[in-house]
Parts: sequence; structure tokens; C-alpha cells
Amino acid sequence: MTSQPAPTLILPPKGEPLICFQDIYKSYNHQSVLRGVNLEVRCGETLVILGRSGAGKSVLTSMLVGLETPDAGSITLAGVELTGLRTETDWDRLRLQMGYLFQGSALYDFMTVGENVAFPLVHHRRLTHDQIKQIVKEKLALVGLKDVESLEPSALSGGMQRRVALARTLALDPHIIIYDEPTAGLDPITSDGIAHLIQDLQKSLDVTSILVTHDLRTARFVGDRLALLYDGRIVFLGSTQELEDSDNPEVKSFLSPISLTESEGL
Ligand SMILES: Nc1ncnc2c1ncn2[C@@H]1O[C@H](COP(=O)(O)OP(=O)(O)OP(=O)(O)O)[C@@H](O)[C@H]1O
Ligand SMILES: [Mg+2]
Repeated sequence: MTSQPAPTLILPPKGEPLICFQDIYKSYNHQSVLRGVNLEVRCGETLVILGRSGAGKSVLTSMLVGLETPDAGSITLAGVELTGLRTETDWDRLRLQMGYLFQGSALYDFMTVGENVAFPLVHHRRLTHDQIKQIVKEKLALVGLKDVESLEPSALSGGMQRRVALARTLALDPHIIIYDEPTAGLDPITSDGIAHLIQDLQKSLDVTSILVTHDLRTARFVGDRLALLYDGRIVFLGSTQELEDSDNPEVKSFLSPISLTESEGL
């Protein structure tokens, strides 16, 4: 089969659709996970995808980088049909423009912090050792870390590991950043630090972000719009206020256990 060339992304103006999921279906061994997802992500926004554990958030977002493929439906990124990409070369050209912060930090524990952040630069840019060193330093500074390059990831706290993973995600200056559960497993104060960092990055870098979480506190803080994935479909899309005011029973069912958790100060 001939492959469709993957052009350099030509981004639409801010506020215009950049990523469009249309009628996305995905099943595993007859377990139907996504059942007709329709969602548009606008250029320049931070869109939060909410949903309970197992709702299919990671499956959906990993389709953007070719780690999963839909059984049916279409995904376009700046007009490029992702389901039409066939070769790894095509995917690589697109992936270079996207940063994917994996659920958990997914740092290489056999490399130092500096080597982790340098990894994408070493593999995808022709740069001198000194240039790489400088960029690593800059990206670590961007996430609020200094003088940690020679440390092993295991020497860092969970929050710091998440920051290092984010620095690695930013290494190639992506246009689009996908954060999969960036605050999962962190205490509330560390989570707030990461949420502030994400918001600061959104202001300082010219990017479009998709943030997957079931942490409503982070979602409220960073999200321009929130989408709720429930029962394999997007059942709500709107602002934080609209989510809280919604009469949609699926939204209420999603919100109620979280409200309880928050009221208990957890
Ligand atoms: N490769 C796979 N093979 C079989 N089942 C899978 C695979 N990947 C995902 N699933 C199933 O798809 C469903 C959705 O998984 P997914 O990881 O997207 O959930 P999630 O919304 O990201 O959950 P969490 O909040 O816990 O991360 C789960 O039931 C999961 O077991
Ligand atoms: Mg997940």
C-alpha cells in the first residue's frame, strides 16, 4: 500500500480546529472501549479529557502518536489524516512535533537525568555535545530544576521525576503537548506545583495541549475546556463552570465522588 506523505504541520490560526477525532471506535478482545468518540481540539487551547479509570483516555490520546490505531473513524491533525499514515517514517515526522508525557514518568532508570532529557535531541537533532548540554540545562530550568543533570532518576522525588519527564517532552520544542495523568500518584501540593507549571508553560510556549486526568482540581486549574469521556463517548464538552452546572446524569455521576473527596480535603 502506498503511504501518504506526512508533511510538516501547518498549524491553523488560534482557536481553529487543530485535532479532530471523528467517530472513533476501539475494542480489545470484544471489550468495546471507544464507541464513537467525536472531539475537536482547537489550536492554542488546553483541552482536558476527564474520565474514570479505564474509560479509554490513554487509548484515545495514544492514537495521536500512533501507539494505538482506531478500529474505525478518522483522526486529523492539522488536516493530516493520521489513519492514513502507514510507515514509521511518516509517524516519526509527526511525532517530532508532538510531546507526549506518558502516564507515570517513564524515565529511563539506566540513564542520568541529563541523559534522559538529552535522549530525543541525540536521536533527532544534529547538535554538538555542548549544544545538547545547553538545551538540557534550559529545558530543566523551564521546569524549575537546576544542577540535577548527573543524578539518577531514582534519586529524585515523584514530583521532580515528573518535571524531568516534562523537560524531556519539551526537548524538541513540540507544537502539541499531550499530558497523560501528569499529577497521578502525587500529593496535592506537588500536584498543584505541576499544574502551575503546566499553566506557565502554556503561557510561555506557543502550544496546544491535551491533558488527560481524573483529577478535577488540576483540570479546573489548567483547562480552557473540559471533555468527559464516559461509556466510550464524549458526553460533555465545555467550561469548568458549565461542567459544574450540568444536569447531564453522566457528568453528575462523574463529579459526585470527586466532590466528596474534595470536601473531605483529600
Ligand atoms: N493493549 C491493550 N490490550 C487490551 N486491553 C487494553 C489495551 N489497552 C487498553 N486496554 C483496555 O482499554 C480500557 C481503557 O484503557 P485506558 O488505559 O485507555 O484507560 P484510562 O482511561 O487511561 O484509565 P486510567 O485513568 O486508569 O489511566 C481498559 O479496560 C484497558 O484494560
Ligand atoms: Mg490512562
